[in-house]
Amino acid sequence: MIITIDGPAGAGKGTLSAFVAQKYKLAYFDTGMVYRAVGLQMVLNNVDLSDVKYAEKTAKELTFPQMMQLAQNKDFRSDIGSHAASVVSAYPEVRAALLQMQQNFALNPVFADGTPANGVVYDGRDTGTVICPNADLKFYITAPVEVRAQRRCNDLIKAGFTTDYATVLAEMKSRDERDMKRTSAPLCKPHGAVEIDTSLKPTEQNMADMAKIIDESFGF
Ligand code: DC
Repeated sequence: MIITIDGPAGAGKGTLSAFVAQKYKLAYFDTGMVYRAVGLQMVLNNVDLSDVKYAEKTAKELTFPQMMQLAQNKDFRSDIGSHAASVVSAYPEVRAALLQMQQNFALNPVFADGTPANGVVYDGRDTGTVICPNADLKFYITAPVEVRAQRRCNDLIKAGFTTDYATVLAEMKSRDERDMKRTSAPLCKPHGAVEIDTSLKPTEQNMADMAKIIDESFGF
């Protein structure tokens, strides 16, 4: 059982993906973390993010446990980590280097503690188009950029970072631009995906709608 959940930054994919994974006892793969790991490793090594060759080398060399270790860094989810991930994820060489690792997860999905799972929820930008084009069910989660920026701004302030709405909105717009205009695997709604605009209903209702669609789709 493979479910893909794609969409732009701040749309609420993480919350909805975690809900689906927990409710249906599926492993969860947050694919954004592989790009965050590569980007942050470059920042930590003081390497300019425009160095494509270094980014490719980093993507080829980083192991999954090393990525999990980088995820503990305070900047993994800050503006610094987000910006770095957005830049390196636009490089086709980096995407190619990380493709197999992401696809392999569906062959032997495991929970965080290593125990085997019967399926996987992929969360990302290209999981329904490139990583698992043959997924059983695909969702496309979106919301207007102003709504997404406000949410992200609130989250960052809550987590103790100093920022403001205008800064987050500008960064969100340039991330959208890079995600949607890059030549390799640009963000788009996968063919056959169910689209949900998370600004239209409360989160609990979006969860209930997704559960209904999953139940109907798999005959539960
Ligand atoms: O979902 P996120 O914010 O953690 O993603 C970090 C960056 O990685 C984001 O700028 C887009 C990129 N990304 C991608 O290009 N493809 C994916 N499947 C997931 C994330």
